[in-house]
Amino acid sequence: MNSCLQKDIQKADEQEIFLSDVISGLHQKPKKLYSKYFYDEKGDSLFQQIMEMPEYYLTDCELDIFKNKTAELLANIVLDGSPFDLIELGAGDALKSAHLLTLMAENKIDFTYMPVDISGNILSVLERNLRKQIPSLDIQLLQGDYFKMLHKVMHASERRKVVLFLGGNIGNMEVEESYKFCTELHNNLKKGDLLITGFDFKKNPHTILKAYNDPKGITSSFNLNLLARINRELGADFDIANFQHYQTYNPVSGACQSYLFSLKEQTVSIGEHRFIFNENEFIYMEISQKYSQKDIDRLASESGFRIISQIPDSMNWFVDSVWQVV
Ligand code: AVI
Repeated sequence: MNSCLQKDIQKADEQEIFLSDVISGLHQKPKKLYSKYFYDEKGDSLFQQIMEMPEYYLTDCELDIFKNKTAELLANIVLDGSPFDLIELGAGDALKSAHLLTLMAENKIDFTYMPVDISGNILSVLERNLRKQIPSLDIQLLQGDYFKMLHKVMHASERRKVVLFLGGNIGNMEVEESYKFCTELHNNLKKGDLLITGFDFKKNPHTILKAYNDPKGITSSFNLNLLARINRELGADFDIANFQHYQTYNPVSGACQSYLFSLKEQTVSIGEHRFIFNENEFIYMEISQKYSQKDIDRLASESGFRIISQIPDSMNWFVDSVWQVV
C-alpha cells in the first residue's frame, strides 16, 4: 500500500474514533468532551499563547528546571553511561527538552530522541526547530497514541528506555486514570528503565485558578475551539456564541476543572444525532489535576516505580520527578 493511501486510511480511522468519542461523551450525564481533542492547528496555536501568558506559570517553572538544573537531570538519566532511547510522550514543540537534548549532544551521549505526539502538525514544527538547533541529533518522530508508539519502540530496540512525560500532562488525567496510566507504563517498560514526569504542585488556589481563568480569555477560546473543530470536522452545528467557559479549582482534591455552559436551551446536531442542552447545562471539558508530594509518592509506589530524584523549580511550584522501574 502506498504511504499516501495509508495516511488517508489512518486519518479516516482517527476521524471515526473522534466522532464516536464525541457522541458517547455527549450522551454521558453530565455531558463530557475529551481535552485530547483540543489540539488541532488552531488549538496548538492557542496552547502556545497560553504557555506565553504571564498567569500560566507551569511552562516557566518547568523551563526553569530544564534551563538551570539540566546537569542534574542529565546525571539522573545517564546512570551507567549505556546507550538509550529517550521517548518524550506529548512532546509538543520540545521547548523544554531542547535544553536537555543540547547538553546531551554536547556531551556526545549515545541516545535516540523519539518524540511522540498526537498532533502531526506540532511534530513537524518540532523537527524543523530541532534539526536547526542540534544538527547532530538522532531523531525519530512518532505520531499517534502514546502506548501504541511505546509498544512499537519497545520492540524496535533492546536499548534501555528513558520516558519523559512533561508539562504537567499527567494532570490532564483523572486521578484514577493516572494510576492506570502509570501502571501501564510500568508494564511496558523493563526493570531499571526511567520515567520522568512533570507534576504541578498544589499551591495558593488563586495562583492556580488565575492560570486557567486568564483575563484575555485565551483559555476560554482554547475550550470553545473544540466546539468549532467538531463543527468543521464532524459536521456539527454548535453555535459557539451560546456557550461560555467556566473554571473551578478545588484545593482539597487538587482538581482544576473547566466547563462550557450552555447560555440557553438549545439543540445541537451532529449528523443524525441530536443533543438537547438545557439553559446552564454544562459540558465537562478538562481536568488539570494538582499534586502534593504525598500524592506523587503514592502514585509512584502503587504503580511499580521507586522515586530516585525530585527536581523542583526555584519556587517549588512544579517538580520533575524521576522514577525507576523496580
Ligand atoms: C497540556 N496541559 C498540561 C495543560 C494544563 O495545564 O492542563 C492544558 C491547558 N488547559 C488549559 N490551559 C492549559
